[in-house]
Amino acid sequence: MMKPTLLHFFLILLFTLSSLPNATWAVGTIIFTTLGRSRFNFDIFSLPITASASRLAVHLHNERQLTDGVSVNFNGFFPSLSSSSYLASLLPSSSFDSLLYVTERNGSSAIFLNLLPSSQSARRAALEYPARLQFSLVSMPDDVAAGSAPTISTKDRPSLSGDFLVYVSTHQPSPFPRQSSAAVYSTHLPTGLTRRLTPSGVADLSPAVSPSGTWTAVASYGAAGWSGDVEELLTAIYVFRTEDGSGRTLVIDHGGWPCWADETNLYFHRRSSDGWWSIYRATISIETTAVSLESIVRITPPGFHAFTPAASAGAPGIIAVATRRKTSEFRHIELIDMRGGSSNTYVELTRPVVPYSHHFNPFISPDGSHVGYHRCRGSGNGNPSLLLENIKSVAPDSFSLLRFDGSFPSFSPDGKKIAYVELPGLFVVNSDGSGRPRKVFSGNAFPTAWDWKRKGVIYTSLGPDFASESTDVDIISITLPDDDDDDDENSQPSIKKLTTGGKNNAFPSPSPDGKWLVFRSGRTGHKNLYIMDAVDGESAGIHQLTEGPWSDTMCNWSPDGEWIAFASDRDDPGGGAFAIYMVHPNGTGLRKVAHSGSGGRTNHPWFSPDSESLVFTSDYAGVSAEPISNPHQFQPYGEIFTVDIDGSNIRRLTHNSFEDGTPTWTPFFLEPVDVAEYLDGGAICSFDDWQWLSIQAQFSQLLPGTSC
Ligand SMILES: *[C@@H]1O[C@H](CO)[C@@H](O)[C@H](O)[C@H]1NC(C)=O
Ligand SMILES: *[C@@H]1O[C@H](CO)[C@@H](O)[C@H](O)[C@H]1NC(C)=O
Repeated sequence: MMKPTLLHFFLILLFTLSSLPNATWAVGTIIFTTLGRSRFNFDIFSLPITASASRLAVHLHNERQLTDGVSVNFNGFFPSLSSSSYLASLLPSSSFDSLLYVTERNGSSAIFLNLLPSSQSARRAALEYPARLQFSLVSMPDDVAAGSAPTISTKDRPSLSGDFLVYVSTHQPSPFPRQSSAAVYSTHLPTGLTRRLTPSGVADLSPAVSPSGTWTAVASYGAAGWSGDVEELLTAIYVFRTEDGSGRTLVIDHGGWPCWADETNLYFHRRSSDGWWSIYRATISIETTAVSLESIVRITPPGFHAFTPAASAGAPGIIAVATRRKTSEFRHIELIDMRGGSSNTYVELTRPVVPYSHHFNPFISPDGSHVGYHRCRGSGNGNPSLLLENIKSVAPDSFSLLRFDGSFPSFSPDGKKIAYVELPGLFVVNSDGSGRPRKVFSGNAFPTAWDWKRKGVIYTSLGPDFASESTDVDIISITLPDDDDDDDENSQPSIKKLTTGGKNNAFPSPSPDGKWLVFRSGRTGHKNLYIMDAVDGESAGIHQLTEGPWSDTMCNWSPDGEWIAFASDRDDPGGGAFAIYMVHPNGTGLRKVAHSGSGGRTNHPWFSPDSESLVFTSDYAGVSAEPISNPHQFQPYGEIFTVDIDGSNIRRLTHNSFEDGTPTWTPFFLEPVDVAEYLDGGAICSFDDWQWLSIQAQFSQLLPGTSC
């Protein structure tokens, strides 16, 4: 990778000015964080099962990795080879199986098809992974005009019915703010013709096609839309014709993740009124013109969580589910054998194989012989994790977009270094990935901002984040030793405390002349913005910039010095909604720049290098996947957007089902390529499952003999 230099920057600038005379985009690079995602490293695995009349057995020693260890690979589906002439035409011989899945390689979400040597010859062939047997099926639907700005989107939950690929995509924006653009599409693979099956203005998730292919069930927000939930989305299950989306009928008013056992029995999950996530079976009747619900039966009892069910016509009476039980800190896949009549039998699938890893979203092959799922491949198997992951940019000539593995990143003024937070501690790493990250402060620091004039000075705040107005949090500056001294063990950063009064002083951002620091403080009992002396701190001068009984926070000073952008809940203090405002440093010109839908959030504004636009994080695009199908995310709705400072031209930069946040923007152009990171062992895959699935925390009072 080329080191970003000043010369490089000017070349890019010249190129951009000459080739895009009307471009309103600033040159440079935006980087952001996605909670946990840089270390997820998902691959799809499978285990063979046999279901004899008397017994259901899992062949625990025959786990097979079905994807290649590149990027994240998840939400798989085994197509039925016999029902698709398109698939049959791709197969080199009949001794191949196939797998559909979602992958995020190459900076965007795409649906891939792998052709896999069938089990007998699997071991060797899987090791020498035949790349030519891996196809990108859908990355860009054909209804996006060729030559227009690149469209970025999430793809999710693929399945194949005949020659039709049915899947979720977010490429068409919702007409409403704070609504998901997730909708179900079908693509006819031989011709590439794509059709939207979800009505306009509605969001559908988790599609499942019935065994005959005639009907598709989805978890839908319906007309009411997303209400801001991040645990259970409170979706309803609708059924419509796969062919054209017609006959759309509400069949289950509370449920998600539907799957079909046969043409009239659907399994789904919901959080039961007793608090446990449980599997239910709905029996529906289908007349030629209408679908109606006959009955709903709860399958899994209280005492453990069961969710994300999968069924197959080839395994009648058996479903695969993910569970959280008291016996494990991890999410595992189990089979439920319901063929015994009065009592169901549970068979563990993944815990005996890989006990200390979360396993997600099972699926069963059409012949009932294999169960697939995804989990982390671990650190020793596959490509290295990434410090910077290239993400497809909506304006590649204007800026590159990269995911950074660390919170609250910010660039040094020369673009060569990135400061970031990985609690507890503040680190500095070279932006070209060379060398090891250097811990420059150990303590609960957030966020980071570099002084524009004084070399190696980083501002942060020290104390708990997400804390009340009366918490002790102070702003500090960290002065790094000269670069020349990097190898000198004795050259330690020097720390200076800048705030001396008041509580909850945080989010410092320096003025471009290096003289002032804007920050938020809870010193009056409310969080408002203040400006103080950047070098000597509060004791050398402070004045209040905003004032009112609300929260102003996350401030950022524009590179031209004219504006301070910040997030504020002043429209409904304490109501949870945040809008982005701007104000001149002298207190005049206050205005609202961006907000999301009712109750929505826009946070963490950061100015573009030309001070003409802002990058920020928002729930403007709702939630694109059922949260329970992913690892823990505090705010699964977080996506990155830009807006011009006059409030126009809101553009969505990221599409995924994880929490994107804390963006920053540098004038220096980083090449749009992945940069591997140096990691100490053990750091991979150590992410958490949802706290609300923890039985110890939530249900200890219900369980005899637990103490916590
Ligand atoms: C996608 O990324 C891989 C490496 O992960 C690379 O080898 C390949 O050339 C890329 N493909 C495209 C189309 O950019
Ligand atoms: C406040 O600052 C803005 C921006 O620099 C400037 O245009 C305006 O004249 C200033 N107003 C006063 C009253 O100083």
